[in-house]
Amino acid sequence: MDRQRILIADDQADVLEALRFLLKGEGFLTEAVTSPGAVLNALQVKDYDALIMDLNYTRDTTSGQEGLDLLAQIQRVDPTVPVIVMTAWGSVELAVEAMRRGARDFIQKPWENARLLAIVKTQIALSEALRKGQRLEAENRLLRAEGKPLMIAEAASMQPVLQLISRVGPSDANVLVTGEPGTGKEVVARTLHAVSERASKALVTVNAGGLAEGVFESELFGHVKGAFTDAKMDRVGRFELADGGTLFLDEIANVPHNLQAKLLRVLEMGEMERVGSSKTKRVNVRVISATNANLGEEIGSGRFREDLLFRLNTIEIHIPPLRDRKEDIPLLASHFLSVYAQRYRKRLNGFDAGAMQALMENPWQGNVRELNHVVERAVLMASDAMVRLSDLALRSASSGPTKLEDMSLEDVEAFLIKKALARYDGNVSHAASALGLSRSALYRRLQRYNL
Ligand SMILES: Nc1ncnc2c1ncn2[C@@H]1O[C@H](COP(=O)(O)OP(=O)(O)OP(=O)(O)O)[C@@H](O)[C@H]1O
Ligand SMILES: [Mg+2]
Repeated sequence: MDRQRILIADDQADVLEALRFLLKGEGFLTEAVTSPGAVLNALQVKDYDALIMDLNYTRDTTSGQEGLDLLAQIQRVDPTVPVIVMTAWGSVELAVEAMRRGARDFIQKPWENARLLAIVKTQIALSEALRKGQRLEAENRLLRAEGKPLMIAEAASMQPVLQLISRVGPSDANVLVTGEPGTGKEVVARTLHAVSERASKALVTVNAGGLAEGVFESELFGHVKGAFTDAKMDRVGRFELADGGTLFLDEIANVPHNLQAKLLRVLEMGEMERVGSSKTKRVNVRVISATNANLGEEIGSGRFREDLLFRLNTIEIHIPPLRDRKEDIPLLASHFLSVYAQRYRKRLNGFDAGAMQALMENPWQGNVRELNHVVERAVLMASDAMVRLSDLALRSASSGPTKLEDMSLEDVEAFLIKKALARYDGNVSHAASALGLSRSALYRRLQRYNL
């Protein structure tokens, strides 16, 4: 086992020397510093198993104020290191105040060696147990998140979603999951599979949005050797792979029209053929599909078959956008924080008040996925134990659907210019005349607003 490392801080050389000698004799590694600034620096570059520190540094002060301030700063840099403070004999009140500010124990100078060693060893053992417990807990959380779908949903607006999952999840009913991009459609699909009797069988995903039209059919149904030029071998399709289990058809609105009839048949009859084969195969597959398109409109315009929709949406689960379940933002954000803190080996305790308020107020057009990415970036950016507002790097409010009356005059102007440019496909002359400006006046503003 590595030798334990103790940081000692005092401005008196003889105290440091005595402590070094004592601790070294017990097998500890020691490092000594002589100022509060040096303590913070040391904690930022290395992990220590304990810190023993004096409360007074500038010769003529005995108030302990420097040490108390330092304690508060240590809490921000490394809240897990056990701190033992040294106080002058008789100043118990100061010691109590130090403990109130995060010190774990105190010793009075001049100290008794045996007592000092006992305190140091106890504090190291306690904090190791604590760190280990936290790590196990974090690991368990991560395992749960990777193995099974982890779905956070406490908001009132999510209760219908949870109820539907628990009612229809266990059945074989086909379910259509709808919602804006990033709302968690795939999470719901995985949860449905996990609570079903098919949970021990495969959950096979097909993303209809990501497949070229030419390969779609063979992807879904497989093919036999020679079915087309590139078909050098027989290939099993996703429907066969999912036999006995669940097939998740993501972005269902993108299924090419000519394949919708084949899809309908396998859903109705459980029958299909591989491309290039006339042999009918039977498959037993539960289909969960998802879309962020408006299938009603797709049907109206003839792009989607109504009879197929009726097969897919035996039950429809609609997931509300994140802006309609703000209560879940702190839970989701904390969850992502612990996942990424673990992944990037950062010790982070949470979000400070300003950061949390910004998370609550952000429009989240990209829903949970956007929140996930924002927190990941913030974890990487965070420079102390809390995520702060500046770490979040949220897009400026003016790009969201902010109310006009909350915007500054300049933001309103920039907003209107952007709109006009978008409306006229970037044509500056048209945008300028629509805004009642000359071309050069518009150019000046484009420069000013960095557009
Ligand atoms: N309720 C939730 N609890 C925990 N994590 C969630 C939740 N909802 C979404 N996520 C996470 O947010 C991200 C986006 O979720 P998901 O991929 O399921 O969204 P989607 O609706 O399928 O998006 P798209 O329409 O873009 O395909 C994923 O990382 C997912 O794990
Ligand atoms: Mg998805």
